[in-house]
Amino acid sequence: MIEPEPLQLIGQTEVRFRRRTLVYFSGCDYFRLSRAPQLAAATRAALAECGLSVAASRRTTGNHVLYEKLERELARFFGAETAVLLPDGYLAGLAVTQALAGEFTHALLDEFAHGALADAARMLACPVKTFTHRDADDLARGLAKCGPSARPLVLTDGMFSHDGSVAPLRAYLKILPSSGMILVDDAHGAGILGRTGRGALEYAGVSRSRVIQCATLSKAFGAYGGVVLASRALQKKILTHSRVFVGTTPLPLPLAGAALASLKILRNEPGRRKKLFQNLTWLRTDMQAAGWNILETPGPIIRLPDLSAAATSALKARLLVAGIYPPFLKYPGASAGGIFRFVISSEHRPAQLAKLAGVLAAFKNS
Ligand SMILES: Cc1ncc(COP(=O)(O)O)c(C=O)c1O
Repeated sequence: MIEPEPLQLIGQTEVRFRRRTLVYFSGCDYFRLSRAPQLAAATRAALAECGLSVAASRRTTGNHVLYEKLERELARFFGAETAVLLPDGYLAGLAVTQALAGEFTHALLDEFAHGALADAARMLACPVKTFTHRDADDLARGLAKCGPSARPLVLTDGMFSHDGSVAPLRAYLKILPSSGMILVDDAHGAGILGRTGRGALEYAGVSRSRVIQCATLSKAFGAYGGVVLASRALQKKILTHSRVFVGTTPLPLPLAGAALASLKILRNEPGRRKKLFQNLTWLRTDMQAAGWNILETPGPIIRLPDLSAAATSALKARLLVAGIYPPFLKYPGASAGGIFRFVISSEHRPAQLAKLAGVLAAFKNS
């Protein structure tokens, strides 16, 4: 079987799997906003008022006031000059590199960067080299090889979803020549990291002057769609030169309505982020006390150290017996054999966290 088995979400923190209801520590709907009644209401209202689809590119007859409103609100939320919507997060980085094709002489890509960024890098029409994951020293060596007249673009995820680690953007900016820029795919950091949830840039304390941030609305925001947080100059280039912007139908209008509702929640309810990180800290501390070597990464993701095939099967079985879906993934790049990756949500209840901690502690000490 190549396709994973289907799962059906039940409420906010459980899934239906093989006729059982199991606690779910996976998916990246960190606040479970896709289940929030406010998003459902906004989706219904936008559907009734505006219909399902504009059925045309925004460059022809497919622009709509709802897209413009969402772009204004996204720019405000992230503190950016403008925001440009794309049909999904995968296309956001591609829109940037199509718009900037020919402007850079070299692309330097984190070796574990998401496939979306690897594809985006190819659009730049310049050589693409990888550097060691999150390693500013290796990036510096790569930059030195580009030569004194280079105009490099560094491409990296903001928060890496295999373990919740974050790209050291401040260190990268220190070694980047003034002609260089960084493109950050912040699909996982946006809405989560930083004092107000603006993402990896806010977490690192760096400005937007030489960093372009793109994100998805399908994870922390619980809706759907992609966004580039752009200067006015970049916005203009995307609108005119990016084939994926010019040649696609934008996201369905009800989902734009849902994204507006989720922005309102994230702005007005900072307690959700507090709860998310309380849950993360509680579980991680408990696991460390039980003897697990767990990295203290900033994101709400706990990756177990790699296990043997036999230990992997045994842990999967124990989780299933305890009523927990085993979140074991084959992750491109991060680990050949696959990893257990527990994604924490603000909505997990103390008893669910305690149940997981109990299984993991018993397994560790068996
Ligand atoms: C780092 C990263 N970039 C891009 C994407 C694609 O976003 P979307 O699902 O909105 O196309 C994902 C989603 O899985 C992701 O994890």
